[in-house]
Amino acid sequence: MPMELARLHAAGIEGVEGYLVTVEVSRAEPVGGTGRTTLVGLPDAAVRESIDRVTTALFASHLRHRPTDHLTINLAPADRRKEGPSFDLAIAVGLATTLTDNAIPGVPADALFSAELGLDGALRPVRGVLSAALAARAAGLTRIVVAPANAQEAAVVDGLAVHAPENLAELARWLRVGLRAAPTTPLLPATAPLSDGPDLAEVRGQEHAKRALAVAAAGGHNLLMIGPPGSGKTMLARRLAGLLPEPTLDEALEVTRVHSIAGLLQGGIGLLRSRPFRSPHHNVSSVGLIGGGSIPRPGEVSLAHHGVLFLDELPEFPRTVLEMLRQPLEDGHLTISRGGGRLRFPSRCMLVAAMNPCPCGYLGHPSRRCTDSRDAVHRYRSRISGPLLDRIDLHLEVPAQRPDVLAQTAPGETTAQVRSRVGAARGRMLARQGCANAALSAGSLRRHVKPSAEALTLLTQAVDELGLSARAFDRILKVSRTIADLDGRDQPGLDDVSEAIGYRVLDRPAG
Ligand SMILES: Nc1ncnc2c1ncn2[C@@H]1O[C@H](COP(=O)(O)OP(=O)(O)OP(=O)(O)O)[C@@H](O)[C@H]1O
Ligand SMILES: [Mg+2]
Repeated sequence: MPMELARLHAAGIEGVEGYLVTVEVSRAEPVGGTGRTTLVGLPDAAVRESIDRVTTALFASHLRHRPTDHLTINLAPADRRKEGPSFDLAIAVGLATTLTDNAIPGVPADALFSAELGLDGALRPVRGVLSAALAARAAGLTRIVVAPANAQEAAVVDGLAVHAPENLAELARWLRVGLRAAPTTPLLPATAPLSDGPDLAEVRGQEHAKRALAVAAAGGHNLLMIGPPGSGKTMLARRLAGLLPEPTLDEALEVTRVHSIAGLLQGGIGLLRSRPFRSPHHNVSSVGLIGGGSIPRPGEVSLAHHGVLFLDELPEFPRTVLEMLRQPLEDGHLTISRGGGRLRFPSRCMLVAAMNPCPCGYLGHPSRRCTDSRDAVHRYRSRISGPLLDRIDLHLEVPAQRPDVLAQTAPGETTAQVRSRVGAARGRMLARQGCANAALSAGSLRRHVKPSAEALTLLTQAVDELGLSARAFDRILKVSRTIADLDGRDQPGLDDVSEAIGYRVLDRPAG
């Protein structure tokens, strides 16, 4: 009984990591009766449906296979769950190499195949191609075959030739002459990151808030703005995106990978070169915010990785949902358990939030009266737990600006001007310690932040008087390090630490 075996590479995705999957296709003539097709190796429903798609696609591409044969398709390693339609292409090519007539000659062992197939044989884009391409390179492969709409994403990975045929028939022609001689898709030059968002210069007054925005952007610190309705909190937050330093190549790769897995890369995009700014509505579900689902997808906190997660009207978010942010904000990543395993998604983002001081909004307003009872104010504030507040480095009062300030015509500092100072400060951090100040581990914090003796005395006193936690102590040190970096000082001095303490408004006793 003749039997043939084809072996090809594809990729699976776990969390944001790609891993190599070997697709083995074996064909045997049945001893009697009709043939059957068996798919083994923990496939999910979409992978199982792949048999039907692939059979039709092969037929449409004049690559018929005999329905009387016994086919076994094995996805190895067998202990990892295979999800989604991205194995279609490898299975189809595997089947096509074992045909009796019109067979494609052997497949190259140095290529990875990742695409869904349409019934007409067209290659369709899939999620996670960047992760697949990185896995291919890590495994020493040198080429990848993907749908044209995924070609730029794959081309981002250096040292990997990208082949993007329109359909299976075209790929079959290429394989017959050898993939080595087939056309490749080069990486197109990156379009410069756009900075055509709203400009900081449009905000009148609010000098204190603008300063805090620059500090937050430079060091990657979490920020909470508190103020009456219409004082400009949302306006300021929307202008933060333009102040953020450009992502490094590694950061851009990580951001692109998460967006690719969430299916948010629109066709033809290569590398995402600006930092994400995500602003989920307060009715977001916990899965929407944190991630998860039956096929686990990253949530808003991961989509905001290396960028900003903006929660406007913070007290409107259900407390249980906010509580789930504690661990990912602290660790810069989160784990989701699924079946027997655990998946990891990155979540190193800045939390930026805005709220009113009380339900009516006017507590502490210079000219309007607050109509809320003490109890109502207390209930409102207690929707945000102490542990969450403790993770917010900068609490900022954003007061209503006086009419004469709003009427000013003299232009303030522009987004571009502030961004250049922010970029210089971030550059100092990267050169010194390889990460933003907010991301410093406890060990590196002691190594890289050495405030003057008098600054340290002030900090100790403040922590004592305000009853701050050890976490708050570390976070104030990090903020003071950022202030020193922004102003070009070697180490934080008294003024830097004092300014950093000043940003913990909500820790001060009320009254
Ligand atoms: N400092 C300012 N300079 C110029 N315009 C301002 C300023 N503050 C507020 N505005 C104007 O007021 C509008 C409302 O501001 P914004 O939406 O940011 O208020 P908010 O603080 O978020 O209020 P709420 O608490 O109701 O959400 C802005 O779109 C802008 O037109
Ligand atoms: Mg607002």
